[in-house]
Amino acid sequence: MRPRVHVLVCVHARRSDDPLRSGCGEGGPAVFEAMKRETAGVASRVWVTATGCLGHCPGRGCAVAIHPHNEHLVEVIAEDVPAVLAQALGAR
Ligand code: FES
Repeated sequence: MRPRVHVLVCVHARRSDDPLRSGCGEGGPAVFEAMKRETAGVASRVWVTATGCLGHCPGRGCAVAIHPHNEHLVEVIAEDVPAVLAQALGAR
């Protein structure tokens, strides 16, 4: 079984005094939970995976990568999840 869309949600946490800031550890878990909740009915078509650093390290929210579209979003917060999924599922 292959998903139509695979969403990677960064939940990587760093110490708050890290030069790369605290990472997505604060905002990522809420986005991951919202993604899982929103995709519960389409779990065979949309996979959601919590992941480590995607290399963007936004100052707020978290980073999200959507494949196969190769889209990388930053500063994603839980309230953005419905729109992000609508765009991901509507694209292609
Ligand atoms: S910590 Fe999330 S993209 Fe780097």
